[in-house]
Amino acid sequence: MIRAATAADLEAIVAIARRAFVDPWSEAAFASELGNADASVVVTEDLSGFAIVRFLADEAELIDLAVLPERQGRGLGHALLAHVLALAAARGASSMYLEVRATNAPAVALYHRAGFAQVGLRRGYYAHDGADALLMARTLGHVVG
Ligand SMILES: CC(C)(COP(=O)(O)OP(=O)(O)OC[C@H]1O[C@@H](n2cnc3c(N)ncnc32)[C@H](O)[C@@H]1OP(=O)(O)O)[C@@H](O)C(=O)NCCC(=O)NCCS
Repeated sequence: MIRAATAADLEAIVAIARRAFVDPWSEAAFASELGNADASVVVTEDLSGFAIVRFLADEAELIDLAVLPERQGRGLGHALLAHVLALAAARGASSMYLEVRATNAPAVALYHRAGFAQVGLRRGYYAHDGADALLMARTLGHVVG
C-alpha cells in the first residue's frame, strides 16, 4: 500500500502538495529530495499521499507529509507515518523529530496518536504568516504500526 517513490512520481507528489498546503514546496525541492541519499520519499500506491523523512546521524526528521483533501480521514496519514517510523528504525535512527503548525489540529492529533510529544515551540516559524510551530519528537525503540 505504501512504497518508495521514484522520479516518475514527482508530478503526482507536486500535485498532492499543491492541493494539501497553502504554501507548498516547489517542484525543484521535491526533485531534490527524490535524489537525496539521506532522505526517503514514500507514496501510497494510489498516489493520494506522500511522506518525506531525512536522516542525519542517528536522528530522523519528518519534513513533509500530506494526503489529498478528498482522501483524508481514512487512515492514510497514519499509515504513511507508521511506514516512515519503521524505515527510520530500520536505518538505526533512535528518534524522529518534526515541526508542525501549532494550529494544524488534524496533524497534531495524528502525531500525538503516533507517540510524538511536544518538545519545543518555535514562535513565528512560518515566514509567510508568522504562525508558531510545535517541535515534536518520539523515540524509535518500539515502533508500532
Ligand atoms: C495531516 C494529514 C497528513 C493527515 O492525513 P489523514 O490521512 O487525514 O490522517 P488519518 O486519516 O490517518 O487520521 C489520523 C488521525 O488524524 C486526526 N485527524 C484526521 N483528520 C482530522 C480532522 N479533520 N480534525 C481533527 N483530527 C483529525 C485524527 O486523530 C485521526 O485519528 P482517527 O483516525 O482516530 O480519527 C492530512 O490532514 C493532510 O494532508 N493535511 C494537509 C497537509 C498537512 O498539514 N500536513 C502535515 C504537515 S506537518
